[in-house]
Amino acid sequence: MRDIYLLLIGTDSKETSLIASVASNLEYVSLLGGYTNLPDARQLLDNRTVDVVLVGTEVEDTYRVAAEIGKDYQNAITLVMEEDVTEESLYRVIASGAKGVLPKNFEPEELIEKLSRISQSLEEKATRLKASRGNRELNDSKGKIFSIFSAKGGVGRTFLGVNLAVELSQEFDDSKVILLDLDLEFSAIPLATDIFPKLTLVDLAEDIRTMDADLIQRYITRHDSGVDVLAASQNYIGDQYITAEQTNKVIGILQTMYDYVIIEMPSRFTENTAPALSNADFLLLMTVPEMALIKHTKEVLRVLEDLEYPEQNIKLILNQVNRKNTIRVNDIKKTLQKPVYITIPEDLKHVRPSLNQGYPLIMHLPKSSASKRIKSLARKLVMDVGGKGLH
Ligand SMILES: Nc1ncnc2c1ncn2[C@@H]1O[C@H](COP(=O)(O)OP(=O)(O)OP(=O)(O)O)[C@@H](O)[C@H]1O
Ligand SMILES: [Mg+2]
Repeated sequence: MRDIYLLLIGTDSKETSLIASVASNLEYVSLLGGYTNLPDARQLLDNRTVDVVLVGTEVEDTYRVAAEIGKDYQNAITLVMEEDVTEESLYRVIASGAKGVLPKNFEPEELIEKLSRISQSLEEKATRLKASRGNRELNDSKGKIFSIFSAKGGVGRTFLGVNLAVELSQEFDDSKVILLDLDLEFSAIPLATDIFPKLTLVDLAEDIRTMDADLIQRYITRHDSGVDVLAASQNYIGDQYITAEQTNKVIGILQTMYDYVIIEMPSRFTENTAPALSNADFLLLMTVPEMALIKHTKEVLRVLEDLEYPEQNIKLILNQVNRKNTIRVNDIKKTLQKPVYITIPEDLKHVRPSLNQGYPLIMHLPKSSASKRIKSLARKLVMDVGGKGLH
């Protein structure tokens, strides 16, 4: 275990004494002290190594304090305390840059578990840094991440993910591309690509401690197009089988192995898949011209705004557009107050069969109207993200 130095800001006296007693029982944790606010704590933060700062609820704005610490002391890991941990609060946590949340009425075991994980991950980081020193160039050129999200299912995430991945891999200087399936409940990528993964993300997640590029390689299935796929799971299961820490680690490693990581997210916000949001270079937010979905998409945009998610990283994709749609693209732009990044036409004749029969449309019918739009989308994304493969 690596030693960690812990600092408290804004915890109440009961919490402080409970944390002090936990710390005194853990050999690898040293409690440096407790402060009532950030300005007072700065004296210490400016002058010595602090590994973990726990921000309690006794400060005026826990998340603002966490965000300031993240900005000014980038080596410190911030945890925040929260009265009531809800889905929304988890997103505030992510947006603030904090690495975890501790409920206000926490059990000592919960704190011990968090501290022990942090200690282990700091140790792994130190080992990795040592190993990568001679290999700087490789580590600096990280792959780009495009995460595909929609406010409900059945919008076209699998269709877009598969075809975008194929296009990036075949038309952009042989870029290395992986399709990561994070839709654990409704995993459809294996069917859509006609692959039969023996091992999946859920199996891999169990090996988090030893996880590295070599290990991940064994869980990946290669598609004929050259695209690699890390499938979600063999069965219909919930996303409780993978933690946010595991998701984060998988994404981080994939980024060192590939030029592009395309992620199909589930169609709702979940804590465990949140790293796909926070790590994304671009969030491809898909919608279709349907009033109810547009309303939900507006709600998603509002939540993202509350989280201070960078607005310019959200790219709105309008799928299944046809001439008969009564809602026009301009109305959608107005309602969502956001430009539509690209529209993809509805192609009833070809899209569904391609998904059902397991062949990427863009390989077999590259001239179809939907394929052409995905080709334009790939080009636009690569250009805007500054990715590999533009001539
Ligand atoms: N541009 C399109 N034209 C015609 N049909 C489309 C188009 N895009 C998607 N579809 C159809 O919509 C349905 C859903 O597509 P897809 O499975 O890609 O969406 P999803 O968001 O991944 O859904 P799920 O929630 O099941 O994961 C499929 O039947 C597909 O054939
Ligand atoms: Mg899908």
